[in-house]
Amino acid sequence: MVDSIVAATDGSPAAAAAVRWAADDAGRRELPLRIVHVVEHWPYGISAFPPPGWQDATAQAGEQVLAEAVKTATGRRPGIDVTTGLAGGTPAEILRDLAGTATELVIGGRGLGGFAGAVLGSVTLRVAGHVPGAVVVVRPGGGETRDEVVVGVDDSPECGPAVGFAFEQARLRGGGLRALRAWQVPLHAFMPETVHDIAGIRQEQQRLVADALAPWRERFPEVEVVQEVTCSHPVPALVDVSAQAGLLVVGSHGRGALGAMVMGSVSRGVLHRAHCPVAVVRA
Ligand SMILES: Nc1ncnc2c1ncn2[C@@H]1O[C@H](COP(=O)(O)OP(=O)(O)OP(=O)(O)O)[C@@H](O)[C@H]1O
Ligand SMILES: [Mg+2]
Repeated sequence: MVDSIVAATDGSPAAAAAVRWAADDAGRRELPLRIVHVVEHWPYGISAFPPPGWQDATAQAGEQVLAEAVKTATGRRPGIDVTTGLAGGTPAEILRDLAGTATELVIGGRGLGGFAGAVLGSVTLRVAGHVPGAVVVVRPGGGETRDEVVVGVDDSPECGPAVGFAFEQARLRGGGLRALRAWQVPLHAFMPETVHDIAGIRQEQQRLVADALAPWRERFPEVEVVQEVTCSHPVPALVDVSAQAGLLVVGSHGRGALGAMVMGSVSRGVLHRAHCPVAVVRA
């Protein structure tokens, strides 16, 4: 099978931003771009009452959405190879299946539906972090022109693929990589009888980051890396540096059987608040 980048669109401005991001990355990676639109089977969420002509009308509207998205992609990157796919079913389920076979899946942070004030749509939340591989979530406006890549580093097994994805993006963009680890002083550290070697802890945190990066530094020697360890909660720390970044990469932070089914609070937190596109990478 040919490697390809898949972008999903529902015709919304956020999805258009996702298509632009995907077109840029297809150009950088020299891969084809596949744009997909999913037509929901049943208009009322129950398998009854389709109005006459429903299927034809939605398919026609879907083709229109795809044609617009192709224009957006080729307008952004004229040289790329673009194909389209119109599928029928439940968007989150279809996109989860597609993510498993694509180099990466690119989606908008929200879509056409949702409610006023919603930051993330239900499809976004049901796809990002729930499938193996990389799901890039793009919101209109932020970070499209900056090149630095930021990756959040922790001690979970999920971290490796995220760090690898970040190195690859940094190499493609040529803008350097910032690896950030945020750690917090536990509550018991403030008890009067506890003595902590804070300098030692800091040093150990630096070592942990260095260890996580070591195999990837060897594989991507051309990538310039800045290693940062900060004493704060990871979400605000990552959100802060995302303001200067073109892409923020996090693991989905799944641990064990239950962990594999839910997205970690850090991934969820940065998806809500990051100033640039976010890649959630799962092993
Ligand atoms: N029918 C669809 N076909 C293809 N991609 C879709 C479809 N629906 C959503 N997406 C993708 O998922 C992203 C997020 O959309 P989502 O549906 O989660 O947000 P929403 O419409 O604002 O909220 P909700 O649907 O939960 O009311 C879109 O930008 C798009 O990339
Ligand atoms: Mg929607």
